[in-house]
Amino acid sequence: MFAVPASPSPSTPKARGLRDVSAPSWFRAFQPLPREHGFEPLRVEGVLPEDLQGTLYRVGPANLSAHGQRYGHWFDGDGAVSAVRFAGRTAHGATRFVETEHRAHERREGKMLYGRYGTVIPGGPLHRLRVPSYNAANTALMHWQDRLFALHEQSHPTEVDPDDLHTLGETDLHGLVPRVFSAHPRRVPSRNATYNFGARYGPGFMWLDLFELPDVGAARRLGTLKLPGLTLLHDFIATDRYLVFLVPPMKLPLLRMVLGLGTLADGIALDTSRGTEVIVVPIDDPERPVRFTVDPFFLWHFANAFEERGHIVLDIVRYADASINLLLGEFITGDLKHPPMGMLHRLRIDPVRQHLSSEQRWDRPCEFPHLSSEQSCRDGRYLYLLSNSPEGGLQPPDQLAKVDHHGGGVETVSPGPGQYPSEPVFVPRRGATGEDDGYLLTLVYDSRRHASHVAVFDARRFTRAPLARVWFDHHLPFTVHGLWVPRGRG
Ligand SMILES: [Fe+2]
Repeated sequence: MFAVPASPSPSTPKARGLRDVSAPSWFRAFQPLPREHGFEPLRVEGVLPEDLQGTLYRVGPANLSAHGQRYGHWFDGDGAVSAVRFAGRTAHGATRFVETEHRAHERREGKMLYGRYGTVIPGGPLHRLRVPSYNAANTALMHWQDRLFALHEQSHPTEVDPDDLHTLGETDLHGLVPRVFSAHPRRVPSRNATYNFGARYGPGFMWLDLFELPDVGAARRLGTLKLPGLTLLHDFIATDRYLVFLVPPMKLPLLRMVLGLGTLADGIALDTSRGTEVIVVPIDDPERPVRFTVDPFFLWHFANAFEERGHIVLDIVRYADASINLLLGEFITGDLKHPPMGMLHRLRIDPVRQHLSSEQRWDRPCEFPHLSSEQSCRDGRYLYLLSNSPEGGLQPPDQLAKVDHHGGGVETVSPGPGQYPSEPVFVPRRGATGEDDGYLLTLVYDSRRHASHVAVFDARRFTRAPLARVWFDHHLPFTVHGLWVPRGRG
């Protein structure tokens, strides 16, 4: 295990650009965000497309310790929102921590007060039972009614000013959210609305609150589902008529957590004695969901879903177990032991027969699927992913993949040696004539320069070198999720 990366002082070898030979090159990406700033010019390498007009927002954990205590998992880091604004072949970048109420409270007290995913909760057992999860605001972003929110699945949304990234404050969205608002809202274009859920926990069971956020007008709660056990539910998916949940059966180390002997992250596991529950909720009749159980599997992310001849077709990254949690925790040690195991699968649900079939679509580990927003809820041809190259060994994902669901196979591209991309985001070209007629944007950590840039690929000529790279003069710690906001909507 390597030491936790720290911010180098100006006199250290790291600050002069030398590598710590004992640690893998990507490890320095976990050093905390070196400075916060508003939009400032970024250096452009290559030529930016004239029609790339808008802002790429990203969010992720941007430190790994607080008040002298080291965080135990990547997910625990305080969130920072970063943004790159493209206009007129130029780019400007900004980055700031999200100043949540919990972060401010702990700063005032000078110590850790709240629960984290992979860090032992401070205090005694009674305190651990009652204390809420720390709102790290570090997982994903939502752009709704021209407002930007940093999301964390155990917390309320935190609104951020899209123009300068200052934190505006936590919100329950005008009374909509009783407890939490999950990190993967899903927009259904045909309904001009975004859907999401939030989990609330009871003794041995949990509720899922279901939300509808229209493009215009007030949000509403669609209903509440009761689940017969406690689990980890990160994502869901929506089609034109349904919300679909795949609920993995998990073992949670609750007693060890309460006693301060362990964390959720180091004790969570798939309970293979039970099945994964499939829940199909009709949006127009949410009190009458279809529910059935299939063989157990774990997932973090859905890619897309659409309806086809009475069936629901889903693309997910499927896992046979939950060891991905351990790998994600190992990232911040620099010492990886668990290989990535998530595989792209296409599922087909027959709600009438209560049957689910699953077909693997690619034989390489992958994650962070992204579909063009134009293809959401449709049989989109192309899917973009992060993956690990066969020759790269155990390390963070080092390549992008483009899957052609219509028989064209899978293409991959690496941003370059020692470079680590993030979740790809597709931006359609102005006047696009095809599904992949646009740009693929990815925030890249370059371990050789210890700096980050956004690489702009031509999505149609995917395997060629990027059209342009726009450079921050510092690194951004690895981010989790992001989104694109076209110019005029930011
Ligand atoms: Fe996610």
